[in-house]
Amino acid sequence: MDGLPKVELHLHLEGAAPPAFIAGLAREKHLDISGVFDERGNYRYRDFRDFLKVYEAATSALQSPRDYQRLVLAVLEESAKSGVVYSETFLSPDFCGGRDPGAWREYLHAMREAADQAERDHGITLRGIITCIRHFGSEKARETAICAAETAGDWIVGFGIAGDEKIGAPRDFRWAFDCAREAGLRLTAHAGEWGGPDSVRDAVRDLAVERIGHGVRAIEDLALVDELAERGIVLEVCPGSNVTLGIYPGFKAHPINELDRRGVKVTVSTDDPPFFHTTMVREYEELHRAFDWDEAQFRRIARQSLDAAFCDADTRARIGKLLEA
Ligand code: ADE
Ligand code: ZN
Repeated sequence: MDGLPKVELHLHLEGAAPPAFIAGLAREKHLDISGVFDERGNYRYRDFRDFLKVYEAATSALQSPRDYQRLVLAVLEESAKSGVVYSETFLSPDFCGGRDPGAWREYLHAMREAADQAERDHGITLRGIITCIRHFGSEKARETAICAAETAGDWIVGFGIAGDEKIGAPRDFRWAFDCAREAGLRLTAHAGEWGGPDSVRDAVRDLAVERIGHGVRAIEDLALVDELAERGIVLEVCPGSNVTLGIYPGFKAHPINELDRRGVKVTVSTDDPPFFHTTMVREYEELHRAFDWDEAQFRRIARQSLDAAFCDADTRARIGKLLEA
């Protein structure tokens, strides 16, 4: 599985930070965030709400463009080890300069420099999706969307929303999504992870997204599954994340195989790999064990993922050649 070229479309940059990296930054800054780690140095959380709190506490150790530059290098090196050749990563101006457009540009510059270096060193290409955070509210999402619109281009290619799906509704974020769309950004939204089929329907209808983060609970309504398949809406599925957070008891009970069988365009990602003790290689291994997915299936999924990527045509063509290796 290591050698198969992979495309990952759903990865939270801060959520991919190795715990030892965050612990090191906290030590440098004399910051006490020991509560986010267990006795073995892994992230410790009880449930999804607690996960979000721990995520934000761990992120408080990232305080400068230089910290984010180091983070991007560490994360891309790790992804490349799993055979990832193209990664779309969620970036949050909320955590990078508090949604101030000037500060955000400095963070972005540092991240792009790191991405260029990782591309030279490890042959992995990164593109950014700016993400607002649902439980921070729609006012802050507007500010995030302005940062996104001002830096949209060949590298910032998308806009999305993460955070607590149980708070607020997609329609509250319509202004932010309209602003991002008008700036040329492609759209995705977390839905159907903690909310059921209606949450997916609302995101598609109210935000006009072309991809859904997770979306797996669409399986609870087969008419919706058919609609997703017909409209070609892509699901960024993160099976290991769903299993670790307790949405499904194991990979065998996960709906990814059934969604794929019913014609929905599914892709495979890790979400927040160290939090969920996963990597892209582990996701592939578990899918092979649970559903007997073979090399041909994984190659088809990688191609489907690249087709759903938000990058430009030249980048897609270049990465497409790597997938044929
Ligand atoms: N932010 C980071 N990981 C997330 C997830 N799985 N769901 C919603 N928001 C997130
Ligand atoms: Zn996510």
